[in-house]
Amino acid sequence: MGSGSAPAKIILFGEHAVVHGVPALAAPVSTLRATAFAEPAQPGYGIRLETPSFIAEIPADININTVDDALALTILLTLKALAMPYPDLVIRLDSTIPIASGMGSGAAVSTALARALCAHFGITMPPSELNAIIYEVEKLHHGTPSGIDNTVIVYETPVLFRRGHVPEPLQLGAPLSLLIGDTGHPSSTKLAVEGVWALRAAEPERTQSQFARIGQIIEAARQYMQAGEVEAIGHLMNENHIVLRELTVSSVELDHLVQAALDAGTLGAKLSGGGRGGIMIALVTPETQAQVKSALMAAGAVNVYATTIV
Ligand code: PMV
Repeated sequence: MGSGSAPAKIILFGEHAVVHGVPALAAPVSTLRATAFAEPAQPGYGIRLETPSFIAEIPADININTVDDALALTILLTLKALAMPYPDLVIRLDSTIPIASGMGSGAAVSTALARALCAHFGITMPPSELNAIIYEVEKLHHGTPSGIDNTVIVYETPVLFRRGHVPEPLQLGAPLSLLIGDTGHPSSTKLAVEGVWALRAAEPERTQSQFARIGQIIEAARQYMQAGEVEAIGHLMNENHIVLRELTVSSVELDHLVQAALDAGTLGAKLSGGGRGGIMIALVTPETQAQVKSALMAAGAVNVYATTIV
């Protein structure tokens, strides 16, 4: 039996602008995970994927250049990297990460799957190699992914990520306690990313200045994080949310949860991830955590998760 798992992630600052070359800050959420268990089957059985919502057979003759299924592509790229033949396996996949909600569910499931395959063959794959595989798979989900999701999920550590640069570990002078409010409205990151590309084409100067503003927010946020200045980080989250709204990637539900968190005394709140649905995050203290959580639930959040970034 080979098993693997991978965490969810949240973007603290810089989603969307990161696709256009601005840095972003992100962190894993280790309590929400995707898991995969690979069990050997009799010769000739092939690969069968079993999830709580569907079962899929992955044919041995599937073409790596034309495959359009993320799980099949993950398997083919992993086998190729391991230089292993097509095995006979039943692979059980499960996940506690909300789907299409800005928490990197697709990248986490693919990472868990690739790790289970590696474990089945008894091979340890270097994280950089695994990261490159999951990035390829992300292209199916996202079209033009920045690479932030796969990086945070594979390395499972808070990072400052910039397209084309080696990710830098994020230094925190004080832990950040966050609540993650799920609107319960799944949303396509691909469509939201395409929307921002369209905005950039239609209004290049305005969009560039919004990206530049996010860049300034990130630079300040990084310094405040290092210094452990939690209140200042909250203000920057509010500012980042305003720019994301201007970039058309918020939604009525996200704005509603952000406002509810602000009214309940959060230090700062913003949408997180692809937006137009999915999740928002709110920065809390031990004193405000319970009241902000209740306010989010009362405002319609279908789930509220607590996480601490250290
Ligand atoms: O997968 P999501 O919804 O968390 O979005 C990832 C963040 C984006 O910046 C919107 C896209 C990207 O590739 O960086």
